[in-house]
Amino acid sequence: MRHVEATFAPVDHQAWRGERAHRDHGPVLIDGPALVRDADTGDVVLAHVPVVDSIDLDLIGTAAEAVDYPGARMKRANGMFNRAATFGYRPRLPVYMQPGCSGNVMNVEQPELAGTFEAAATLVQPYYREHSPDRYERHLELAQAIDPAWRMGGADGMFTQGIVNHTTAHPYHTDGGNFPDVWSGMLVARRDTVGGELVVPEYGVRLACPHGFVVLFDGQRLMHGVTPILPTGPLPRRFTVVYYALSAMRQCLPPDDEVAYAQAARTATERRMHELTPDRPPVVYLIGEPGSGKSTLMAAFTDRYEAEARTAPFAHRVLRNADGLVIGVELGKRRDNFSGTDALAMNVGPKVRAWLAEVDAAEVVCVLGEGDRLTNGRFLTECDAVVRLDVPEAVADERRRQRGSDQNASWLKGRRTKLSNLADMVTDTIDGTAPLADQLAALDAIYARCCAS
Ligand SMILES: [Fe+2]
Repeated sequence: MRHVEATFAPVDHQAWRGERAHRDHGPVLIDGPALVRDADTGDVVLAHVPVVDSIDLDLIGTAAEAVDYPGARMKRANGMFNRAATFGYRPRLPVYMQPGCSGNVMNVEQPELAGTFEAAATLVQPYYREHSPDRYERHLELAQAIDPAWRMGGADGMFTQGIVNHTTAHPYHTDGGNFPDVWSGMLVARRDTVGGELVVPEYGVRLACPHGFVVLFDGQRLMHGVTPILPTGPLPRRFTVVYYALSAMRQCLPPDDEVAYAQAARTATERRMHELTPDRPPVVYLIGEPGSGKSTLMAAFTDRYEAEARTAPFAHRVLRNADGLVIGVELGKRRDNFSGTDALAMNVGPKVRAWLAEVDAAEVVCVLGEGDRLTNGRFLTECDAVVRLDVPEAVADERRRQRGSDQNASWLKGRRTKLSNLADMVTDTIDGTAPLADQLAALDAIYARCCAS
């Protein structure tokens, strides 16, 4: 076993997210059994080890080959398919019209395959326990808050869901929705390929991920991505099966009660739909002073969807979920500076209001936006939710300083005055100093209330 000491050097997650993983970002190659230790804390932060006889990765690979991957989509960048399918259990997702916790689609459609992957969940756990015993115990304790019926492996299980990735060079991202400070476990079954290294830029390492290995790390904290996968033979495949624990599963009642809960929620939703006949789509708008994190939060929300940019009648992006269904429209553009509606023309307000009046509410589903451009009374009266991202001035000042903004004091004062004048219009407040995952959960709840009922 190789021991690698690596120093944690954080990267700007917002800037890196979505960029292609490159081997230069992880100069230290780890191609055999290895543990990566944080040079400052001594904590083992990555384990890259071969699995022994307990897990048959040839069998896992055969099962992965047989999975019916939904929403298969050709990736323009490298010509490879981006295919993935989840198994195990999923939390309440009112956004997707799933009011109750339930099994994933694979559990219903291909139960034998789901069973094969689920059976390996508890077999990953001993590797976790061996290489990070303290974290393992903490994770196991957190998992006790989830009803055993919603854990793979039942009362002994600590993972709630898994995903099978079919030969995909994922761009940089962090995983979301997991318990904090815990590991996910990834099994690798591959053949006829080179590349497909897992790059972890914040520790300057890249992991070869050969066939038969398990990789364990905190994918929620550490930025990670996969380098291009190149074929070397007739059946190029790089399957990874990732096991993780979704903290939202804590809200799931025991299965029978959960079914009753979901049924009641569905009935309530249907009643509301009969009562309301919206003539324009609901609008959710984020406001807050410069540096409050509006565009970061909006990016975290929209990054989970496929986005298609349109330019008329003004720049906006149509967001689709994995099934290709529109979940909403984001106003403006996404870019590093002056993102969102700030990318739109100064006088775009009337255009947006006219568009809202004309557009088919059922087709647009939901209008989302953030930015100073439309932070005015005329527009905000059109909004179903005016969400204020709240941070202390000192925090916003520091964030702006960090990103090198040189806005002058009187400009800022004007922004703050404007916001306080609009205080009466605020329907929801999100704590901008909370972890991004919590902010996102709050925004998801607002989305569900305004747009998914
Ligand atoms: Fe990931």
